[in-house]
Amino acid sequence: MERILVTGGAGYIGSHIVKDLGEKGYDVLTYDNLSSGNKWAVLYGDLVVADLADRVALEKTIQEFKPDAIMHFAAHIIVSESVRDPLKYYINNSVNTINLIETMRRCSVNRFIFSSTAAVYGIPERVPVDEESPLLPINPYGASKFVTELVLRDLAGAQSDFRYVALRYFNVAGADQRGRIGQAYKESTHLITRALKTAKGELAQLEIFGTDYLTPDGTCIRDYIHVEDLADTHLLALDYLFEGGRSEVVNCGYGHGYSVKEVIETSKKVTGKDFPVRSAPRRPGDPPVLVADSSKLRKMLGWEPRHDDLAYIIRTAWEWEKKQR
Ligand code: UFG
Repeated sequence: MERILVTGGAGYIGSHIVKDLGEKGYDVLTYDNLSSGNKWAVLYGDLVVADLADRVALEKTIQEFKPDAIMHFAAHIIVSESVRDPLKYYINNSVNTINLIETMRRCSVNRFIFSSTAAVYGIPERVPVDEESPLLPINPYGASKFVTELVLRDLAGAQSDFRYVALRYFNVAGADQRGRIGQAYKESTHLITRALKTAKGELAQLEIFGTDYLTPDGTCIRDYIHVEDLADTHLLALDYLFEGGRSEVVNCGYGHGYSVKEVIETSKKVTGKDFPVRSAPRRPGDPPVLVADSSKLRKMLGWEPRHDDLAYIIRTAWEWEKKQR
């Protein structure tokens, strides 16, 4: 079986892909500095604990493991933090990623799967948003991923042996059905996790960031995708590249969205807890509506969602959350 190097494989999304790769029999190696990931989350293969910025460790790992492809998850992902600390995002998400791509090229690795984001679109003119829509990110997080997408596009244009798939994630949520892995950030900013932490009593109340958006109930709309459905897209993208597919950029979402208020209602139903909620000002960097046109994902990669059900997504996240201290 092929050898796959997974950067950020100890993190929330990366660990689900490591699990799937391991279950399918790939030879998988995780490279992670454990800044937000956890050793216990790596269910298959070895773990190299090192930073992406450590180019010596990175090159040594690639040279010794000789991967057939690299999947790159190691990144900072919090929109609001990126607004406060843009350099942190450009350095890790852009500079370190470009260094990774340069190192893999020098080591003759030429298949790459990149975790991109719906945040590259900014405030889309049309929703659902398709891959051809203009890329006008409105926060440094989205811009830091956009920079890498440009590098990948130009590199693949210049060097025909290099192939990549950039997957633009919408809002990833939920946990492993068997409860082995899920979101375990020290401080979570994501809506579903915060709602569940409020239901658990860990947070005193949940704030709704903005109730005056031009949406039916005034709150932001997002396309929530279960992490296992997202993981499937990576395995399909990998097969696609190994079968000789050309470089592509693909949206990963279900194609319909829920408002913040709808997510809160469903969280209350799933948990059976009527937790306190209050309105708060808008959060900088938030687009009002982000919903994927996922027809390319379905047609090109043959993807079929298995868990397109908000209550199910929240239920798996709740089962996971209850086990966290
Ligand atoms: N929200 C609240 N209260 C909270 C937390 C969030 O009202 O306590 C709102 C946000 O303002 C936003 C929505 O819930 O309107 C979703 O916010 P999240 O923080 O859960 O997620 P984001 O949409 O900001 O970002 C996520 C990922 C990004 C990715 C983006 C793509 O973190 O990496 O989805 O849609 F780019």
